Formats: sequence, C-alpha cells, structure tokens
Amino acid sequence: MKSTWSGGGADVGVVYQVYPRSFQDSTGDGEGDLRGILARLDHVRDLGADALWTSPINVSPFADGGYDVADYTAVDPRFGTMADLDALIAGTHERGMKLLLDLVPCHTSIEHPWFRDHPERYIWSPTDGPANNWLASFGGGAWSPDPGGRGWYLHSFYPQQPDLDWHNPAVASAFAQVLGFWRERGVDGFRLDAIDRLRKDRELRDEPPAAHPPRLPEQPELDRLEHTRSRDQPDVGAALAALRAGAGDDAFLVGEAYVPSDRLGRYLEHLDRCFCFELLHADWRPGPLREALSRAPERAAWVLSNHDHPRLPNRVGAANARAAALLLLTLPGTAVVYQGDELGMADGPGRTPPAPPDDRFGRDPYRHPMAWDTARNGSFTTGDPWLAVVRPSGGSVAEQERDPGSMLHLYRDLIALRRTLGPGLEVLDSRENVLLVRRGEHLVALNVGDEPEPAPAAGELLRHTHGPARVGDTLAPGEGFIARA
Ligand code: NOJ
Repeated sequence: MKSTWSGGGADVGVVYQVYPRSFQDSTGDGEGDLRGILARLDHVRDLGADALWTSPINVSPFADGGYDVADYTAVDPRFGTMADLDALIAGTHERGMKLLLDLVPCHTSIEHPWFRDHPERYIWSPTDGPANNWLASFGGGAWSPDPGGRGWYLHSFYPQQPDLDWHNPAVASAFAQVLGFWRERGVDGFRLDAIDRLRKDRELRDEPPAAHPPRLPEQPELDRLEHTRSRDQPDVGAALAALRAGAGDDAFLVGEAYVPSDRLGRYLEHLDRCFCFELLHADWRPGPLREALSRAPERAAWVLSNHDHPRLPNRVGAANARAAALLLLTLPGTAVVYQGDELGMADGPGRTPPAPPDDRFGRDPYRHPMAWDTARNGSFTTGDPWLAVVRPSGGSVAEQERDPGSMLHLYRDLIALRRTLGPGLEVLDSRENVLLVRRGEHLVALNVGDEPEPAPAAGELLRHTHGPARVGDTLAPGEGFIARA
C-alpha cells in the first residue's frame, strides 16, 4: 500500500509511559487498572506531559505482560471495562493531553482466535521442524510445534506469541480495522510494538553469523547472528503504510523498531517518531553519549528507560540520575518518561522467592508499583500488591511534592523549560568528561565523569541539576545545567 502521509504533523514534546499494572489500583486486587490511572491523571498533567502512553490494556493471557494480545478491541477485565477506558480518554483530553495505546502488530497471543481459525495469518515452517536458524528474543529457537499438530510456527518472542504474516493482506486489513476502532473512540495515537519484525524474508533463509558486535545489544546467543532475514526488511514500509492508513494522518504514531538510529529512515516515512535506543544503551561516558546523540534522526523519540530495561539509577548510577533527566528533557523531538523516573525510582527486587518471577525474562525489577505517599503500600493498593511497592530514595510523590529540591520538581521544571527550546541539536567539542550540547541559543552541559571539571562558560543560567545556584567554577560529577548561551 502506498502511503500518502506527508509526515511530522503531530507535535508531542513529552510522553509519559504508564505501566498499567503498576500505576494505581482502584479495586484492591493488588494490580493497577484504568480507574486507577484516571485517579492519578493530575500527576501526569502537573508533570507537564503532552501525552500518556499506556502499555497494553487489551485482553491477554499475560504470558508477556500483556504484549500477547487475545482481543485487540477489548479491554482486559483485570484493567476494567470499555467504559473505564472511555473515561480515561475523556480525562486525558480534559487535561489537555493525548492518550496513546500500545498496539502489538507483530504477533498475537497463541490464545487469539485467529491462531485457531486463521492459521494462514501466521508464519509456518515448510518442514516438520524449524525452517531456519532464527532465534527468539527471549531465548531459544524461534520455531515451536503447534500444540494442535498443524506444524511449526514462528515466534520472535515467547512461544505463546506466534508471529503474524504481514505478507498476507488480511492481516493488514484486520489491523486497519483495529486502529479505526480505537480512533473512533477518541484514542489519539499509538506506540507500535516491535515493528522491525513485521516483514520477514519470504524465503525464510538462514541468518548469517555476525561480523561485528551489534550496536543495540541483546543476549549473547542472539548477538552471534546478523538479523538480516528476520528483521528490518526493505519492504517493511508496506506494513507501516497500512498501519498509517488505518490510524489516519493525524494520529501520533511512535514506533519501536529495535534497529540503530541511522536505519530508522524507512520507518519514519510513515511514523511521527521512532525510539532511538542507542541512548538507552549508551554507557554514561562522553564517547558513547556523543555517538548516540550524533546519529539520531530529527524525529527521534528519546528514551532512557522503560519496562524492559534497568531503571536509571541502576543503569547510569544514582549520582547521574539528575543529569540524565537534564539531558533527556532538553533534547529535541519527543522525550519519553517512564513512570517512576520522575521520582528517581530504582529497580526493585522483583518477586520474593519462592514465588516464581512474573516475567520469565527477568524484567520484574523494572516494573514495581508507584509509591504515591507514605501510607501502607504507598497507597498504590489497599490489597496485596502483585509486586512490592519500592519507595524511591527521594521519597514518594507526596514527599517529593513538598521538597523543592526533589527529582519530581527537577522533572517539572525541565519539562516546562523544554517548551521554550527551539529546534536543533549540535554536540560540541568539549573537555573529555563534559558533554556539551547546543540547542539553538541554549547550551546544555553535563559532567559525565568521576572528577570535578571546570564549568564551561555559560550565559544566563536557566536550570542547574542541583538547585537554583549559579554556575560556579566547577561542575561536580553528576552535575549539569542549561543556560542561554
Ligand atoms: C517490546 C515490548 O516493550 C516488550 O515488553 C515485549 O516483551 C516485546 N516487545 C514483545 O512484544
């Protein structure tokens, strides 16, 4: 399908990601839900977000935290009802925000009726066994035998997530209907899951061994192959054009394509933004950070953490979490804030043994519930939380509200300031451990090293990571500022 979309219409500066199971429980069952999100919308508005994206809320057996959808146009009862979703849509709009849903077009749940009734919508091995050497992202081969004995099917992720065949036009038209359904209800856009996997090599050829380590790391087993057949195919645009046509030109579409930023062009022909994952993986050192920033396309969606990766204090060190916020929120394009980052939340312990982990791939520590105040379970739930509530070192939302020096206030200040920044991103030459970025007439400086550095010359200081103080002679490790140059 040829897209007529001309691109780049929607302007969404800050997206706030809600992990719905862990935001706010309204029923006492220990899991977050839609009424809970509605009850906490003022927190998102007060932060200054333009849009709220919620990870999947569709009917799902939850083999992959909801990224295994069994009904694309229904709300999972664990999250509430369609009426609750309508109320959430209205609530976000009343507060001047957009609502983005998470669409999972690469695969369905194995329990989706399509898998039973429309096997032609899936990808099957021509032999009685794996068709090739492709691997699943969460470990093992990408082919599994159908429990119904119909042969071997492909799954890019867990075996409970069979991949759809996007060469079959029936798949594209089914998703166009799904998108149209949600747009009619008032949903403003979508985060599109795993879109680099929508098209695969038609001949299902083997993937060659990798010649170099990948720029976006995965498990060692996966990094040994070059994923030139199972992902990022030259014709992926045909699938994306169908999604764009179904969503409408004015929908805000942000794509999760796990490919290096300089290969996002074919995705951005159809989408408003794509995540740039280099920054999320970059070591907190000048070289990798400079490289991640320099490679990014103009319509980047910047992301420093999400429900799949260690939280900021664990990844960059607690001492650098404020500087990371400064960097994220002063970059052009769209900045995506994962719930809890605005509190400086760190990873939790996951499930307490002997309870088995909820996510077999080990991502529970990044998915702990929000601590709203100092009451029992941080007022996340009146029941037993599905994962323990972990209090951020800087305190709960209510405590940080009262503390002008808190991470929460830093996020709010930076998001407000962000609206005044013009276009442009230039990484400047600077001292080895200082990251210096020009944003039009503004200058962003961070000390990303372990020693104090002379502070770069700055004009009018607009925000310092550690309080309103003027920029002195030095920038301590983990400090940064934005100034008018
Ligand atoms: C990316 C999602 O963020 C992740 O949580 C999920 O497991 C995979 N896609 C598969 O849908």
